[in-house]
Amino acid sequence: MEIIIQETAQDASNVAASIIAKLIKDKPNAVLGLATGSTPLPLYQRLIELNLDWSQVTTFNLDEYIGLPRDHSQTYYTFMWENLFRHTNIHPANVYIPDGNAADIPKFCAEYETLIIEKGGIDIQVLGIGTDGHIGFNEPTSSFASRTRIKTLTEQTRKDNARFFDNNLDEVPIHCITMGIGTIMDARQNILLAFGDNKAPIIVETIEGPLKAINPASILQMHPNAKFCIDVKAASQLKRKDYYNWVYSNRPEWQKY
Ligand code: GLP
Repeated sequence: MEIIIQETAQDASNVAASIIAKLIKDKPNAVLGLATGSTPLPLYQRLIELNLDWSQVTTFNLDEYIGLPRDHSQTYYTFMWENLFRHTNIHPANVYIPDGNAADIPKFCAEYETLIIEKGGIDIQVLGIGTDGHIGFNEPTSSFASRTRIKTLTEQTRKDNARFFDNNLDEVPIHCITMGIGTIMDARQNILLAFGDNKAPIIVETIEGPLKAINPASILQMHPNAKFCIDVKAASQLKRKDYYNWVYSNRPEWQKY
């Protein structure tokens, strides 16, 4: 794991953006895994500013609520088009977002897995993290081997996300579709973003705590190429912070992005 600690959320997002920009330049038909939530917004802002050529890029989103109409303001479909895709030249046919209104959701989920493989697999998966350690919507105790499937959100996640639904908990869906932890682990690279004081306890648990299904993000300890791009607030409880900063400032030339 590579722990990249930057002063601000925007600085940390800019590091992630330059890694993604390099991928798209080196491999124009790259396959990206994308996340939603407030965390990736500065990353998407930076990617838009970089004015990259998205014409051959394929994207797969991590998750989606079940049951909201596709054009509802809080679907991840709306989020992605508003905050990233409509500002790029991506081909709509190359955008894959789980369909929370699919008639046969288990069948849809199986096909989503097949599509990822058919497109060559995910080069870089962007991740946020829930305060309970969820990645995508893989809530605590999700199997580390899980694939794309239906999940039931925890009360904590629904409360965390109620702010996007006018703080009305009843409006927050109970079920979702999410890529599995096994799906995320198949990505060739994972970049997890986390910002702010409220992420500090789960970040120290994820990076320096034990591997355990109760903290789904801890599986990234087993990933061969996982980066954490975090701000000083989210990093504030890390015990080996000095070492991570030392590693980053002394990275060899070939490792720079
Ligand atoms: C949602 C998303 C996750 C995201 C998490 C954190 O639950 N499904 O992918 O990581 O929220 O949200 P935020 O970035 O707003 O803290």
